[in-house]
Order: sequence, then C-alpha cells, then structure tokens
Amino acid sequence: MSLLVHRPRRLRRTEGLRALSRELVLSVDDFIFPIFVVPGHGVRRPIGSLPGQFQVSVDEAVADAKECESLGIRALIMFGVPDRKDDVGSEAWNDEGLVQQATRAIRKACPEMVIALDACFDEYTTHGHCGIVKNGDVDNDATLANLGRVAISQAKAGADLVAPSGMMDGFVGAVRTALDGAGYGETGILAYSAKYASCFYGPFREAAGTASDFGHRKGYQMDPANARESLREVALDIAEGADMVMVKPALAYLDIIHRVREVTSLPVAAYNVSGEYAMLKAAAERGWIDHDRAVLETLTSIRRAGADIVLTYHAKEAARLLRKG
Ligand code: PBG
Repeated sequence: MSLLVHRPRRLRRTEGLRALSRELVLSVDDFIFPIFVVPGHGVRRPIGSLPGQFQVSVDEAVADAKECESLGIRALIMFGVPDRKDDVGSEAWNDEGLVQQATRAIRKACPEMVIALDACFDEYTTHGHCGIVKNGDVDNDATLANLGRVAISQAKAGADLVAPSGMMDGFVGAVRTALDGAGYGETGILAYSAKYASCFYGPFREAAGTASDFGHRKGYQMDPANARESLREVALDIAEGADMVMVKPALAYLDIIHRVREVTSLPVAAYNVSGEYAMLKAAAERGWIDHDRAVLETLTSIRRAGADIVLTYHAKEAARLLRKG
C-alpha cells in the first residue's frame, strides 16, 4: 500500500501529461529582435563581444527584418550607430538618420513588422552620455526638449513604438506630449521604466559604439540594490502615458519583473541584455553548458517571472529552436 497521497511526479510521467500541466508556452510572438544600424551599403560587421550579432547597413537591416519575418518574429528594435556625433546628439533627430532610413525601408519590405526605435542620445553624442552634459552631469530638462524632437522624427519615419531609454525624469511625458502635438497620437511608447546602472550592458557599448569617455550613469540609471524604487519609476511612466513598461536587465532582475507585473495591467517587457547573451555564448563555446537548452530556459524564465515581451539577441535562434520543437 502506498503511503503517499500527494505525488506531484504523476503529472510529470509522460510528455502528454507534462504538456497538459505546462503553465507557459514560449512563443515567437513574444520576442523583439535588436538591430544595430551603421552607415554604408552591404555592411554586415560581426560584433566581437556578441557572437552571432552584427552591425548592419540599412539594406542589410532589411535582410534581417525579412529573415525575422520568415521565422515568425513580429517585432524589431533598432539602434543607430552613426559616424556623425556631436555634444548634444543632434543626429538622433535627423529625418535622414540611420534608424529613420531603416524604418522606412523595412516598412516597405515588411509592412506588418512592428518597429520600435530606441530613443536615446548615447550612440549620438561624442561623450557617450544619454543627453546634454552640463557641469559634468546630464541636464535633465534640456535633454527632454531634444528627446521630443527624436520622438517626432522616429514617428514620422513610421515607427510603431518610440522607446525612450535614457532614464530622464519626465521622459515619457515629454515623448507623449511631443508626439501628440505633432499629430502622432497613434504612435506608442515602450518605456525603459526600470533601467538599472548595470555592468551587463558592456558588450552593447561595443556594439553601439557608446563607451563613455568620463563618468558613469549612476546619476540617472537605477541602483541595483533598489526594488521599491522600480515601482515608483513604473508608476510615473504609466501616469505619463507609457503603453508598455520595461525592466532592464532581465536575468539579475527577475524579482523586479515579477513585482512590476503585479502592479500593472500594461504589457511588461524585459530586456535580455548584451552581457546576459555574451555570458551564455561564452559558456556554451567552452562546452560548459548546453547552448540550445540554455537559450530556451533563459527566455522561458524571463516570461515566467512575468514579462509578456522579451527583447533578446537570441530571438532568431530561439525561433528556430521553437520551430524544431
Ligand atoms: C541606451 C541603451 C543601452 C542599452 C539599450 N539602450 C545602453 C546603456 O544604457 O548603457 C543596452 C542594451 C544591451 O546591453 O543589450 N541607448
């Protein structure tokens, strides 16, 4: 006679039972694939610290978008990596800028693709900071005025989502006001709401050419020790008009994703950032972990924590793995 009444293993016995009891199914619908756009034509330059990722020219960005579409990926986020930089980052609101051109070209080639554009200045400034620097610090309100210009330029190019990422106070409100004032009431805001001052952005700074030549970002990005503060940031962004809120990075911040999920009914996004991708790739290259399983387990865990949407460099390979089943 069995002494145990409760045997959770009963539901793990066969794949059929496991599938019936599964709480979450990872789907390609949930991914946003990041693309770094550089000047030129026919350029596809590997990014050393992000194996399998590339800096691409506009025409190659279109090729990436088509590949994503063929894999079922519905959304992209783009970052511009321009030659032309100045101390305020004015190239970010150039209507003929790289992401603006890429948006128009992708819209033509893949009309259904959701296009999000990172709205920040660090790729566009000579000093690599996320706005106008005064007395060694980023001037919040002066930066907001320029951010409005960026948002309008991105909406004009056809972006579905403007994604302000600079962690300036009032940045969502500034983008919403600018967009509405220019007649872009339909353009949405994906807010980098709880963005931490993290070392896990290391490889991105190579990819986007944004190594700061002085200081750090702790004056505007959040302290990794803080959780309650993320709820305040999220609440402010929602009050200012965010359509989606984001937590970034993802893996060391799964608790934050979970807490944010509990306080909003808006879609919650999480950014599986460059350093997270690089760590997985490095361990897999050495044969220390099973690459494919690590990719799917990572993405599933980010979803399980409460993210509806995952921005990830793994999007294409994960789409292929999900297709293989
Ligand atoms: C700012 C921005 C950064 C990332 C996305 N948007 C860099 C930063 O804040 O330093 C990082 C993304 C990643 O690491 O994958 N434009």
